[in-house]
Amino acid sequence: MPAQSAVTDLNPQAKQMADESMVRNLAAQAQAIWPQEVPLLRRYSLPPESRILDAGCGTGEAASRLADLFPRARVLGVDIVDAHLDFARTRYAHLASRLAFEHQSVYALTAADASFDLTVCRHVVHAIPYPDRVIAELVRVTRPGGHLHVIAEDYGMLHFPRGALDPSDFWHLVPAAFGAKTETDLFVGRNAFGLLAAMNLADITMDYIVVDTVRVARGTFAAILEAWRDGYAEPIGELTPITRESALAYFDQMIADVRDPRRYAVWMVPVLSARVPFARS
Ligand SMILES: C[S@@+](CC[C@H](N)C(=O)[O-])C[C@H]1O[C@@H](n2cnc3c(N)ncnc32)[C@H](O)[C@@H]1O
Repeated sequence: MPAQSAVTDLNPQAKQMADESMVRNLAAQAQAIWPQEVPLLRRYSLPPESRILDAGCGTGEAASRLADLFPRARVLGVDIVDAHLDFARTRYAHLASRLAFEHQSVYALTAADASFDLTVCRHVVHAIPYPDRVIAELVRVTRPGGHLHVIAEDYGMLHFPRGALDPSDFWHLVPAAFGAKTETDLFVGRNAFGLLAAMNLADITMDYIVVDTVRVARGTFAAILEAWRDGYAEPIGELTPITRESALAYFDQMIADVRDPRRYAVWMVPVLSARVPFARS
């Protein structure tokens, strides 16, 4: 385990996170996921002029949508990839009076304790080590009675039809090996409930956003897989028993099936929420 001081710099997917394919990926993911996420966000009882944090905000896809959804809220997005922050500042300049982007690590946020009414962390805790420390930091900056909203990916929750290749083999092998090499939990979706429970949080819920070929436009779902292929085939070849060429072949088959109107595929995306209790035991 690294010393505490080194923890803020941990980002085993730094190259992939900063890649052009990630910008495409985040746009397609938001397009696929946001419509089903809105009702989950509307559940929270937020004061009209609430303060919202988007921790690991990337290109600001969700932070900007949060600012639109809660029109009197002040939203802060933080990330450690400056190119994403610059992109977001430029793209959402029209919201700048209520939407700010800052370079901060989710392991060591600069906010005082209890600063936010809602703390959002989407598609981050699967990609970096010590998700428990991230959750603890999110809890610290959320006020008592405030809400946590966490999308914790789980790469055991993707299902594709079998063809010349069986994608079940790919999803069985790759995330386990990739996670072991990067010291990350690519199945954190199923484990995040326990992480929230360990923090003695209240009202823990687990919902699923269903990214499938019925609910989401096939082109959007395919764009997510294309971005994963373009950004991850190479590190999969380096870090797992699957070669880069084989990873490309698996992705291409899955993409073709998602685009085929006679085929069905699904990615279940876990969304967890919890409330910081007024008195914590
Ligand atoms: C898959 S992206 C998700 C972006 C955004 N939350 C969204 O839903 O569109 C993960 C983001 O986490 C960021 N990240 C990784 N480690 C981080 C850290 N220690 N502190 C802040 N952000 C981090 C990456 O730079 C990347 O932008």
